[in-house]
This record gives sequence, structure tokens and C-alpha cells, in this order.
Amino acid sequence: MTKINLRKITRDDTEEIHRIDSICFPADIAYTFTEFLYLLRHINQPCTRGIKGFIIEVNSKTSGFIIARQNKKHSEIITVDILPEFRHKGYGEKLLNFMEQFLTKNMVKYIFLEVAVNNEPAINLYRKLGYQILKEIDAYYPGNISAFVMKKKI
Ligand SMILES: CC(C)(COP(=O)(O)OP(=O)(O)OC[C@H]1O[C@@H](n2cnc3c(N)ncnc32)[C@H](O)[C@@H]1OP(=O)(O)O)[C@@H](O)C(=O)NCCC(=O)NCCS
Repeated sequence: MTKINLRKITRDDTEEIHRIDSICFPADIAYTFTEFLYLLRHINQPCTRGIKGFIIEVNSKTSGFIIARQNKKHSEIITVDILPEFRHKGYGEKLLNFMEQFLTKNMVKYIFLEVAVNNEPAINLYRKLGYQILKEIDAYYPGNISAFVMKKKI
């Protein structure tokens, strides 16, 4: 039987988070290790601001993660990453639902995110969970790729 565990990211996970992100995104888009060190330096402080994040473990193996930035009643999904061998099993959806429930309890009313216009799996995932496209930002990503800004009221 598959055992699934969701837990808070800690600073000790920085190396593993960086490893997964480097697999999930091309080098010009993935965060560097130094960027993750900075991003996760105050991860999951018990307050209504700052960086929040969770890891999903499948049979005790780290399979993906989600990171959001909260600013009181608004939050932005920074990224959700699932390792290729764990995709199409509902884990991305599970992580996003889990983060939304956490943010709801933590007073958040609206979630925003940016996603590359050519990232069909992610756009479908967000649409499925009720995110709507607000606008398009030209050349947001390297390679002149535009981004959709999406929003959900939770
Ligand atoms: C986007 C991502 C997180 C999806 O994770 P996942 O665990 O495979 O997704 P799930 O199995 O939970 O799928 C949930 C929904 O997402 C959509 N989806 C997922 N993979 C898809 C694909 N390859 N093509 C089209 N839609 C897809 C579907 O709507 C799916 O619902 P369905 O199974 O009822 O059709 C994963 O592909 C990933 O890590 N990609 C690389 C990193 C990335 O781009 N992250 C988003 C940053 S903005």
C-alpha cells in the first residue's frame, strides 16, 4: 500500500528542494542553491507573513514540494514541483489542496501565481482547482516566454 506523508519544509531540506527543482525546471528558470538558501531561511515561521512550504513523501521518499509566500490575507504560490517519476498520480493536486487548506486557516483570502503560458500541465492543474487567468505578462521568463497571472479566492 502506498504511504503518503505531507510535512513542513525545514531549512535542512534546502539541498533536496534544490535538487528536485533542478530536475523539474530548465537551468535558466530553476532557482539556484543560494536563492533557495535565502528563500528558506525563515521557512514556516508561525505567523501570517513569510514563506510557507510542504514536502510530499511517498513511501518515505521525497517526491515533491510546494512553496508559497504569504502576506497576511494574500498569498502567492512560488512553485509546486513533482519529480517526473511521481507525476500523474494526483500528488501535485494533493500538495496544492493541502497548501490552500493551510493558508485558509492562516487567514489568507486570495492566492495568486504566475505560470509560463506554455506550461500546460501546470495551467491545467491550476484551472482544475479553480484558478482563473487575470492577465498575461509578456516575456516574463527567459527565452521571451510570457506568463499568465492566475488568481483564486479561497
Ligand atoms: C505541474 C505538476 C506539478 C503537476 O503535478 P502532477 O502530480 O503530475 O499532477 P496531478 O497528477 O496532481 O494532476 C492534477 C491535474 O493537473 C493536470 N495535469 C497534470 N499533468 C498534466 C499533463 N502532463 N498534461 C495536461 N494536464 C496535466 C490535469 O488537469 C490533472 O488532473 P486529471 O488527472 O484529473 O486530468 C508537475 O507536472 C510538475 O512538477 N511540473 C514541473 C514543475 C512545474 O512546472 N511546476 C509548476 C510551476 S508554476
